[in-house]
This record gives sequence, C-alpha cells and structure tokens, in this order.
Amino acid sequence: MKSHASIKTPEYIRTLAPYVPGKPIEETQREYKLKKVVKLASNENPLGPSPKALAALKTGIRELHRYPDASAFHLKHALHKHLHVKSHELIIGNGSNEIIDMLIRTYCVAGDSIVTSEAAFIAYRICAQIHGVTTLEAPATHDLRADLPALAQVVRKNARAKMVFLANPNNPTGTYNTTSELRSFLKEISTIRGGSVLVALDYAYWEYVTAKDLPDPMALWREFPNTIVLRTFSKVYGLAGLRVGYGIAHSEIISTLEKVRQPFNMNTMALLAATAALTDQTFVKKAVQMNNEGRKFWEKALTEMGIPFWKSQGNFILIDSSRGLGKRGGDVYLSCLKRGVIFRPVSNYGLMNALRISIGTPAENRFAAKALAAELPSGAEASPSGAASRKLKQ
Ligand SMILES: Cc1ncc(COP(=O)(O)O)c(C=O)c1O
Repeated sequence: MKSHASIKTPEYIRTLAPYVPGKPIEETQREYKLKKVVKLASNENPLGPSPKALAALKTGIRELHRYPDASAFHLKHALHKHLHVKSHELIIGNGSNEIIDMLIRTYCVAGDSIVTSEAAFIAYRICAQIHGVTTLEAPATHDLRADLPALAQVVRKNARAKMVFLANPNNPTGTYNTTSELRSFLKEISTIRGGSVLVALDYAYWEYVTAKDLPDPMALWREFPNTIVLRTFSKVYGLAGLRVGYGIAHSEIISTLEKVRQPFNMNTMALLAATAALTDQTFVKKAVQMNNEGRKFWEKALTEMGIPFWKSQGNFILIDSSRGLGKRGGDVYLSCLKRGVIFRPVSNYGLMNALRISIGTPAENRFAAKALAAELPSGAEASPSGAASRKLKQ
C-alpha cells in the first residue's frame, strides 16, 4: 500500500482530540454480552421522537429521489409561528453543532480566538481547533458556573478574541447564569472593540429550565445585536438522530451565515420531522414533566446515597464521584457498563472526578440508580450530601 507519510497535516489537526460520543447501547450489549442495557449518556429524550414527527417521516420516504428544500421553507415557517421570528432571522443547521462550526468558519480565521468558560460544552473547543482557532477559557466560579466578569476580561484583553460561546444551562455541569449576570455581561461585551465580538448563547436545554432567574433568550437577541441564540431538536423534541438545530439572530448575521451554509445541509426527513415535532407541544410538555420528576428522583437518590451533585437545569445531572464514591468518574463509568448502565465520563472536560447522568424514564432511572449504589464503598453509610466538591481535577 502506498504510504501517505508525505502528506502534511496542520499541527492543529494533528493534535486534535476528536469528540467522544456516549457509548451506543448495541456496542455495550455486544462487548459485555448483556441483554439489558440502559443508556443515560447523551442527554437524549427517553420518550423517543414525537409521534407526529414519526408520522411525517412516512410521507417523506416517497420524495427521497428529490433534493431537500434548501431554503427549509416549512420548518422556518413553523418556527416563525412558534417563536415569532422571521425567516431571515433564522438559520437551520445539521444539529446546533453545525451552527457552532459555521459560526467559527464564518467569523474567525486561523490564529483568532474564541472565549468560553472552563467546563463549557466541548464542541466549541473542537470546532475552533478544526479551523486553527484558539480557545481561551475563563476559570469557572467555585460552584462551577461560568464566571461572566472573568470571561469579559478575557475578551477585553485579547484583541483576537472574536466570539464568545456560553451554554445556559451548560452541559455537562447543568449550572447556569442568571438574568442580571447575563444582561450585564452582554452590555459589557457590546462596549468592547465597537461591539464587534459575537456572543453565541447556546440554549440547547432551554425547554427543561425551571429556574425563574435563567433568562429567556428570546428577550436578549433583539436587544443585543451581536448575539445569536442556538437551539436544537435533539433534546426535548427527541430528534437527536435526525440532526436539526437552529440559530436566531439579526438578519445581517443570518445572511452572512447563509453564505457559508452548504445548500443541502438538512435532509428531507429531518426537515419534515422537525416541522411536525414543533406542532406537538403536548409531547414537549410530557417530556418536560417526566424530566422534572426524573431530576427530583435523582436528587433524592443521590442525597440518600451521600453522593454530592450539582443542581441541574438540564436533562442530566453531574455527580461528584470522588467525594460520593471515592472513585474517579471514568472508573465508575466502566464498572457500571458491566452492570448494563451507560453513564458519561467527563474527563475530556478535565473533570476527572465527576460523572454525568442523563435523566431517563422512571424505570431506567431506578435501574441505573441501583447500578450506581453498587459502587458505594462496602458498608458505607448514607451520609448527608454536602455541596459537590470544586476540586474535580485532581
Ligand atoms: C450545550 C449543547 N449545545 C449543543 C449541543 C449539540 O446539539 P445538536 O448538535 O444535537 O443540536 C449539545 C449536545 O449535547 C449541547 O449539550
């Protein structure tokens, strides 16, 4: 075979650590010779897709010989009705992940920087590195939230900082920034370098939020013109497998992104399913209610087991495995795989002593909680859970 040794790979690609997805159920069944496997690893909707989306998919099959609608007319119209935003204020992406990538491709050149928080969603860093763009991280607060004044400082000090990425709530921590924190931050950013720094507010988990002081992103992007809001059909709408996300921003930003978007980035089935899913708000309510109950279940179970956790506004919860179980997150993950439960290790976030648990159905939560309880040191007494430890990296 011909050697490719002479092909030069850029340094930033050679050193890139690719995204590691949650382990698939089938792979776990195969590797561990297990019949029953519960996956609580990828913040998916345990109810499945909306039935209306499934019905819409059936009609799409007959049209697969045609190219998809590159303008995403029907989905944009449905979003317009649902959110009161105009078509030219919307960009549709192959998952919100594609929009993160598009933003960096559009607004940064190699050597520029993006700014985000320590323990922020890892796709920001990966997408940046793919384009030779550096990620500058502001340390998180003691309670593992984005420290917005620190983030603004980093932006101010670095002339090549072109964009900020902020997930609210954040994945994998589940923590959030309040209305007053975020508004002061956006005000401050708009004063830096003539308001030329773009802020991406990633609201992938917005539908699950119950905290009254977590700001509605729809009120923010109109007021702050250098802001884009990212949302997704992968979580509460149960369509992670079809890859549909969208961005909402002023038309100038959207029309620039539209130049960069591949014409057929969205496939026919994804467009059809997302359009139908949006009309199924009964399904969304059911999913949110189940998530609220699931979050309460885990908070109670973890407290009883003496495992500290970070209070979450998403469909997942981050636990402190070191203080709760005396083990690193990766070790707990591996032992639980053998018991047929897939959690998510987060050492790639530098959180060696934590583990992320997605909220499942009541039966999945019970099964997974049992697997986790088996990790408690033998003879351990349930102790009242203190605040999760900030010292997650040692
Ligand atoms: C904060 C956050 N943003 C964006 C995404 C990407 O979602 P998708 O590309 O499936 O829309 C995720 C996925 O887990 C996420 O946690």
